Amino acid sequence: MKIGIIGTGGIATNAHIPHYIAAGADVVAVMNRTRERGEAVARQFGIERVYDTVADMLANEQLDAVSVCTPNALHKDHVIQALDAGCHVLCEKPPAISEREADEMLQAAKRAGRTLNYGFHFRHRTDTQLLKRLIDSNELGHIYAATALALRRRGIPGWGVFTDKELQGGGALLDIGVHMLDLALYLMDYPKPVDVVGHVGQYLGTRPGVGLMGDWDADNFSVEDTARAMVTFENGASLFLDASFMANIGPKDTMNVELRGTAGGASLFPLTIHTEEHGALFDKTPAHLTLQDPYATQIRSFLEACRHEPSYEQAEQAVLLHQIIDRIYSQG
Ligand SMILES: NC(=O)c1ccc[n+]([C@@H]2O[C@H](COP(=O)([O-])OP(=O)(O)OC[C@H]3O[C@@H](n4cnc5c(N)ncnc54)[C@H](O)[C@@H]3O)[C@@H](O)[C@H]2O)c1
Repeated sequence: MKIGIIGTGGIATNAHIPHYIAAGADVVAVMNRTRERGEAVARQFGIERVYDTVADMLANEQLDAVSVCTPNALHKDHVIQALDAGCHVLCEKPPAISEREADEMLQAAKRAGRTLNYGFHFRHRTDTQLLKRLIDSNELGHIYAATALALRRRGIPGWGVFTDKELQGGGALLDIGVHMLDLALYLMDYPKPVDVVGHVGQYLGTRPGVGLMGDWDADNFSVEDTARAMVTFENGASLFLDASFMANIGPKDTMNVELRGTAGGASLFPLTIHTEEHGALFDKTPAHLTLQDPYATQIRSFLEACRHEPSYEQAEQAVLLHQIIDRIYSQG
């Protein structure tokens, strides 16, 4: 498989490129906004060609697949260009910055007859996959309640464009909340949302303070640091989401999904199953799990998907995901 990379920043060099190479795929070209960075990355990984524009790369290479690793607001255009050129696409999360964009991307995938997957690597964790198997074997019964937590005590990234509304589309909700929201929905089989009550706000990010993920520019902090929401679904289930880049809480960070079902409950990180059996209450944890790198598994499963009939499942789920997110943002 011949692979091209659009955007050669942190996620491309830490996750996509090394795992494509490890999986035996051929990363033949990269494109980046700044050529020096593209050239440095090409040298680092022994990639042959560097391009200044997406159009040039797509026109000059016979690519099977492309990874889109650019800032969020650019995902839609880069994904659609790659699909229109006949490539399968793995686009980093969040899929887009609105439901409308996610839908345009879905339509482009269908038009091109190519797979469009998204970089929700938490889905590919070994513990997540084990829980998914337990849910699929009905160990939890009907899941009627979920909690998705993506909280950092002092975790505004001090690099990149994470605090720039124009390039990222949003803050805590689109950057980290989206991971746990997607994970909860994935484990619940992506039920259709009915009602969303949400709130986003800037409380701490606009004033300088302790930065556990580097120093951020508080004067130019244009995204939300906090997002909270309650979502109800067509199947009667409900979900509570709590996401923050910066909050006065005890733990340094908490990324977790909790599920409550009629036959059992689960807390994902670390994986614990709560049941009632034979007149007693149990908390069960796996005694051993051989952990796989979720980014490596994600790349392998994308490459595998490219070899089969195109799959639009993740692209369809992204539309529902952004429908919820749009409704949270629209309530301010
Ligand atoms: N899966 C995860 O957990 C995870 C982790 C980090 C980042 N991400 C996602 O990956 C994406 C990139 O994040 P990052 O951390 O790599 O950021 P980054 O700032 O390190 O890299 C972004 C790269 O895109 C390049 N770029 C900017 N505008 C461009 C353009 N118009 N054309 C081509 N290249 C352009 C920049 O020069 C930079 O090299 C974001 O969508 C982010 O949400 C996902």
